[in-house]
Amino acid sequence: MAKQNRHNSLERLLHSQGFGARKFCRTLVRAGAVTVNGDLCEDPDAIFETDNLHFVVDGFEGVWPYCQKAYILLNKPVGYECSRAPKHHPSVLSLLPLPLRERDVQPVGRLDVDTTGLLLLTDDGQCIHVLTSPKHAVPKVYRATLAEAADPALCDRLLAGVLLKDEDEILSAQACTLLTQTLLELTITQGKYHQVRRMVVAAGNHVTGLSRVAVGDLSLPESLVPGEWQWLDARSMLLAGWAAK
Ligand code: URA
Repeated sequence: MAKQNRHNSLERLLHSQGFGARKFCRTLVRAGAVTVNGDLCEDPDAIFETDNLHFVVDGFEGVWPYCQKAYILLNKPVGYECSRAPKHHPSVLSLLPLPLRERDVQPVGRLDVDTTGLLLLTDDGQCIHVLTSPKHAVPKVYRATLAEAADPALCDRLLAGVLLKDEDEILSAQACTLLTQTLLELTITQGKYHQVRRMVVAAGNHVTGLSRVAVGDLSLPESLVPGEWQWLDARSMLLAGWAAK
């Protein structure tokens, strides 16, 4: 039985999910453009429980699960900036559909314009704080293509730590493996500007391609091609201690 909570009216729910102003959402519903859990609903004041709720809305591709906070995993392609006010390239936000942009999801930390791979985006401020604060030291795993063939001594130097210009502490990799002579897998827990590229230069090589393959326990799914995104389950974000309660 649905709770008689006017905040759960279809019009308000759609508005909360980024489908536009309440008046617009009302019009959408009245026009027969909204299906709720598989059934057409033309009453903007109809009340719904939010558990397992999903919408299909004409003009917005896909099935939209109701979520109090949105957690998105994007495979970032080359040529996009992780900024809401990009300077030279389009923003990663332009790869997301309008309702997600409307509800103000933001990239969690930054990847360089030339870096590809796992980028989280969310409208949960606490999640952004936990994942980016140095205190939480969340591990991030990168694969770096090297300009020159390397030997295990490169890993030893990165594990021992390197001092970068303008940094006052020695930065060391938490883990480091040479997958091939020119492909390095590196785990860091900090998030300094251009950190991986600068660390590799300081250790005597050069990065020609960089991709992030994991953040904490989250890995980039192989099926997700650059430019594609997927929802993340809010419960798993909560369990990881990353999401707002
Ligand atoms: N380190 C870098 O050098 N670039 C990134 O995008 C991320 C980490």
